[in-house]
Amino acid sequence: MISPPTPLTSLSRLTTFSIGTNNTSLPNSIRSSSSLSVSSPPTMQGGFLSKKPYEPPSWASHLSPIPPHTFSLGHLPTPIHKWNLPNLPDGTEVWIKRDDLSGMQLSGNKVRKLEFLMADAVSSGADCVITVGGIQSNHCRATAVAARYLNLDSYLILRTSKVLVEKDPGLVGNLLVERLVGAHIDLVSKEEYAKIGSVTLAEILKNKLEKEGRKPYIIPVGGSNSLGTWGYIEAIREIEQQIENSGMAKFDDIVVACGSGGTIAGLSLGVNIKQLEGNGKKPFICSMRGL
Ligand SMILES: Cc1ncc(COP(=O)(O)O)c(C=O)c1O
Repeated sequence: MISPPTPLTSLSRLTTFSIGTNNTSLPNSIRSSSSLSVSSPPTMQGGFLSKKPYEPPSWASHLSPIPPHTFSLGHLPTPIHKWNLPNLPDGTEVWIKRDDLSGMQLSGNKVRKLEFLMADAVSSGADCVITVGGIQSNHCRATAVAARYLNLDSYLILRTSKVLVEKDPGLVGNLLVERLVGAHIDLVSKEEYAKIGSVTLAEILKNKLEKEGRKPYIIPVGGSNSLGTWGYIEAIREIEQQIENSGMAKFDDIVVACGSGGTIAGLSLGVNIKQLEGNGKKPFICSMRGL
């Protein structure tokens, strides 16, 4: 599935999976589905799915804590190319960073955050991950796929309308992918979500799973916490290296879609720490909200 490119750091695009159905009742609202067994995560050496010690860019080495490891999940670096939009003002060029090409079912901006989050989940001894999002959340789809690659179960709490909470969510879009990879899907109404909040919903599910003997690891909405943010600090290092290697001009501004904020947080941190300068000034990071 291909979404339209987004300016300079096009940072995104998506796809998804899931399977199964057994209704477990969570707090008062949430309906659940599916389950697969879990074994140890794969430990391939080098390349896709390998666990690598993490070395931050030198300009970010004073940040703390530095994540000790990442899992190689994305197809990186993603290309940057010129985007010939019509009617651009004279002297303006738009380039696009194709993070939509960061992998198949994992593609989009989520995979960069998941490289860090999944490494933490595995080192903490988790046997499953829990995350939260909208019914067609790209983040939840990418998390379910990444979890399956690493032999972890995934539990998704998906927000939907009141009338759909008691219905089978079907096999449309990201739900199809989530179900193909065996994600457990719990539905919560928008009203309950607003009342209870994503953090508490995830904690309730975590407690329930722990009582069943599982070892869950919570990934917040959008994978946007301080650890996930490293994915986009790293993206700044990637852009910097691409500029150096190709001789292309530095960028004045970066425009990025914004949802849970982790992408823009990482880019802003990276740009400000690195002082990635174009025409003698730091690029201005601008978001388009609403995803
Ligand atoms: C396609 C796409 N682009 C951008 C974003 C925004 O990313 P973030 O949640 O890190 O702000 C999202 C997530 O909401 C998304 O699905």
